Amino acid sequence: MDGQSQSVSAPVLVLLGPPGAGKGTQARLLQERFGLVQLSTGDLLRGAVARGTEAGRAARKVMDAGGLVSDEIVLAVLGERLDQPDVSDGVILDGFPRTEAQAEALDGVLAQRGMKVGAAVALTVDDTAMVERISGRHAFAACGEGFHDSFKPPAAPGVCDACGGTELTRRSDDKAETVAARLEAYRAQTAPLIEHFARRGVLLRVDAMRPIDDVALSLGGIVRALEN
Ligand code: AP5
Repeated sequence: MDGQSQSVSAPVLVLLGPPGAGKGTQARLLQERFGLVQLSTGDLLRGAVARGTEAGRAARKVMDAGGLVSDEIVLAVLGERLDQPDVSDGVILDGFPRTEAQAEALDGVLAQRGMKVGAAVALTVDDTAMVERISGRHAFAACGEGFHDSFKPPAAPGVCDACGGTELTRRSDDKAETVAARLEAYRAQTAPLIEHFARRGVLLRVDAMRPIDDVALSLGGIVRALEN
């Protein structure tokens, strides 16, 4: 790990990492354990797509091609979510920021709400793991709970632990060719943000090749440090 975290009253944790690094998995665990709110711009955009909003229609084609949705749309959906009262106890930014422009905008967006980034965690993984993790990922349609064919199977095969549903879904952007484009977008536009947060003195690195619970322990330690 490098850099030093800054204490803030409401913790704001940024999770950085390529597709399949485990950002969503870890953000959900932190939400359960610490009461922080997971703010996934991917989930917010998928919600807009499902509702058929103007932003959702614009985002859909870009997401299915594995590119990055415009900063304008992403900042609008994120700002709307940050205006809801439940975020006041702290947030995990999962998949945001992803471009230099988003990173620059983040400080202002948070400052307007009396918040600031306490730590930015780069989840580090090998390329081979990313493909394996994404190709085995699935969720249950009724509740959206996420699983993995090998790494996080449901207790009873084909039945959701959370809701008991049996209808499986896989993300439309988890096809091999789209994953390659997402990885390319990550390398070109998002990986440079690791240096951005290092310059701010808030960067930490966590080895995300370890089992889910081990990664969660490391992240839990970081959140506890932010809360003190
Ligand atoms: P988004 O939804 O953010 O997808 P992503 O960044 O590609 O990340 P993933 O959700 O694929 O992976 P993850 O790191 O969350 O891994 P997970 O925990 O699921 O974005 C989708 C699209 O929306 C983008 O391509 C873009 O178009 C758009 N978008 C979103 N935000 C944007 C922004 N800010 N700007 C512009 N466009 C934006 O884990 C994967 C699997 O691995 C799971 O099955 C899990 O069980 C398993 N797993 C997790 N951790 C481990 C572990 N340690 N060991 C073994 N298995 C593990």
